[in-house]
Amino acid sequence: MRIAVITGASSGMGAEFARQIDRGEEDIDEIWLIARRKQRLEEVGKELSHPSRVFPLDLTKEESFQTLEDAMKEAKVQVGILVNCAGYGKIGNYAKVSRYDSINMIDVNCSAAVNITLSCLPFMRPGDRILQLCSTAAFQPLQHINIYGATKAFLYDYTRALRMELLPRKIAVTAVCPFWVKDTEFIAIAKKGQRNGEKPPIKSFPFATNSKKVVKSALRCSRRGYAVCTPGAFCTIHRIFAKIIPREALCYFWELMRRM
Ligand SMILES: NC(=O)c1ccc[n+]([C@@H]2O[C@H](COP(=O)([O-])OP(=O)(O)OC[C@H]3O[C@@H](n4cnc5c(N)ncnc54)[C@H](OP(=O)(O)O)[C@@H]3O)[C@@H](O)[C@H]2O)c1
Repeated sequence: MRIAVITGASSGMGAEFARQIDRGEEDIDEIWLIARRKQRLEEVGKELSHPSRVFPLDLTKEESFQTLEDAMKEAKVQVGILVNCAGYGKIGNYAKVSRYDSINMIDVNCSAAVNITLSCLPFMRPGDRILQLCSTAAFQPLQHINIYGATKAFLYDYTRALRMELLPRKIAVTAVCPFWVKDTEFIAIAKKGQRNGEKPPIKSFPFATNSKKVVKSALRCSRRGYAVCTPGAFCTIHRIFAKIIPREALCYFWELMRRM
């Protein structure tokens, strides 16, 4: 049985990946949906025409990966597509973001991403694909959303080097790097905790796109075997400029952007 494994499938882009993989031409028998909120996963599952399985797991807990690996062994699956969308960010400087969130962001965005990949790889064969939801935040340091940006830089480098390691196994690995995506829970969660009346560290979220466009573009890039997917003009320009402009200058440019 060839399955798609999607983390962060209870909302936003993860749920949209489930829908588009379901409707698309992928050779998949079942879609496995992972996140903490069981009911939300079940609602997404009901929308799909493929059979689905719901795994209400907290990916910061080591035992979650054992649960998943046991289920994969028992069902004798091949993981045709792994999409890792689980992740979150918190806006604020070093003093504003709590110690809990500072460390938990690293756990979800970095450790869990590596863990889920290591869990799925033994079940993958030539022609199978991995998509890691990184961000344009990976391209430069970002004060006032610092740790989130640094976690995505880790994920981006991990993904690109993993791609090279997996070339002999003919497993395609793509780093998906959108700029702001507005129709997900991400921005509301990132802003939560900011006090009313306080000047927001990031004033608005210009040049935002939507999850349908990002997911469509990400699946196309993955099918073509691209290393990096920048779904939209702004993130493509950002990627190019980040290669040629010094990092200090990029930080000052971000200083202007976050006050816009
Ligand atoms: N929206 C943007 O502007 C944007 C831009 C660039 C990159 N991204 C990245 O894209 C990915 C998807 O984000 P989104 O915009 O779709 O946001 P979202 O709607 O908030 O989705 C995040 C998903 O992660 C899951 N998750 C969070 N913590 C988890 C944990 N400990 N264990 C298991 N699952 C967990 C959430 O499910 P539960 O709460 O049910 O666990 C949810 O399904 C993230 O990695 C994000 O960093 C987002």
